[in-house]
Amino acid sequence: MSEQQTEMAPAQSRSEQAVRIIVHEHQALWRILDLLDQLLSDMNINEQEPDERLFTKIFDYIEHFSERVHSTPTDIELYKRLGDKHPESLPLLEKLSKGYLVGHEKLLELRKLLTTCMENWPDGREEFSHALARFTEALRKHIRKEEGVVIPRARKVLSEEDWEQIIEARDIENDPLFGERVREEFRDLRHEIINYTPERFGGLGLKHAERVSAPHAKEEMLAIKGLATSYGQIEVLHDIDVRINSGEIVSLVGANGAGKSTLLMSISGLQPMDRGSMVYRGKDLAKVQADQRVAEGIVQVPEGRQVFKDLSVHDNLLLGAYTRGRSQEVEDDLERMYTKFPILRQKRHNLAGELSGGQQQMLAMGRALMARPKLLLLDEPSMGLAPLIIEEIFDIIKELKEEGITIFLVEQNASQALALADRGYVLETGKVVIEGTGRELLSNEKVREAYLGM
Ligand SMILES: Nc1ncnc2c1ncn2[C@@H]1O[C@H](COP(=O)(O)OP(=O)(O)OP(=O)(O)O)[C@@H](O)[C@H]1O
Ligand SMILES: [Mg+2]
Repeated sequence: MSEQQTEMAPAQSRSEQAVRIIVHEHQALWRILDLLDQLLSDMNINEQEPDERLFTKIFDYIEHFSERVHSTPTDIELYKRLGDKHPESLPLLEKLSKGYLVGHEKLLELRKLLTTCMENWPDGREEFSHALARFTEALRKHIRKEEGVVIPRARKVLSEEDWEQIIEARDIENDPLFGERVREEFRDLRHEIINYTPERFGGLGLKHAERVSAPHAKEEMLAIKGLATSYGQIEVLHDIDVRINSGEIVSLVGANGAGKSTLLMSISGLQPMDRGSMVYRGKDLAKVQADQRVAEGIVQVPEGRQVFKDLSVHDNLLLGAYTRGRSQEVEDDLERMYTKFPILRQKRHNLAGELSGGQQQMLAMGRALMARPKLLLLDEPSMGLAPLIIEEIFDIIKELKEEGITIFLVEQNASQALALADRGYVLETGKVVIEGTGRELLSNEKVREAYLGM
């Protein structure tokens, strides 16, 4: 890459970063809209009586979201600066701001119609479902206008300084959307919606297209059977059966010392196994050495990041590709990593030891990705990080899944890890004690008590 491009990079990444924040604010809402569509057709085509609790939670979420988002400094700052620089946009911006207020009234109406619909099933269905369809349509239009017109326009007319200010606005204390307490509220609401959503809809974390194609993704990637592992005389894993399907996020939760890291190291070949079998993409791993496993696509991001602190960010990333030699492909992948993690581009010449904890975690993940993993083993990626950074790490994990990487995720942060997971396992003193879908585990009494603190 030429020096000139390097100079340009931070300027580009500033606006990219701001846009990412804004689009992220919309993502959850897109998923909810998707879910509403499904519930609508369930009601109209399958004549399924609506689940009042679920609808109520969804309306709560949208109402809450509209109130909060409408007043986030990020949005206000963006609208203000765009209006100043590009007065032609003022009417549209005004209309969008008003849209939230109208939406509020419509929600009230929807709640009433839902009650009537429940009391008069199935006669009340038609009015409710019409109103609901109109509402989701309007909301979609609104978000599309923001994403399709406001943001591209802002990208064109705003300066780097503008974007700097927009990003800074997000960091202002008590930002209603990003304040700790409010984020908790949103998370709780999301979890409740996930809990109430029928299994056949596939959960909130997935895109529509993925849900449709989900049956094909059930191909087994790794099958562990009867695995036992010891340190010296002491057996720490007993009779472990774990299955990971292609394209899944599988989460492993368990207390300190349960053996989570040991299980990951057994999979990556850093820890020998005493008994049992591991079959990866149809191949018995018994005789496959750790470095060969990396070449086959099994790549671990160890606990506590363990980046090479005395090497530059750039060299750390390159080391991730050591099984691949140096080629144009590796160069391209480096570029992709810098796009995925703009902060790493900015700090590419810094020593890894100079990075913050969150940045080191991103570097550790970037390094693993340079090996082109098919199965990525993540050992407590959120450990010791601030809530905002944790959210970002979990977002990246979701992105990786969307890119087709299968993920085995060890986490203490059980609620987030399970909300994200297709399936999960609970490990207690070296044994699998519970397994199920992410949603099943989230609502499992034992899990809630022991790992979710409920
Ligand atoms: N190198 C080692 N030598 C001997 N015993 C070990 C070694 N590493 C781990 N152990 C023991 O094995 C058990 C499982 O440890 P492991 O690190 O796999 O647990 P973990 O679930 O990852 O815990 P944590 O949440 O603290 O990371 C623990 O009892 C631990 O003390
Ligand atoms: Mg561990």
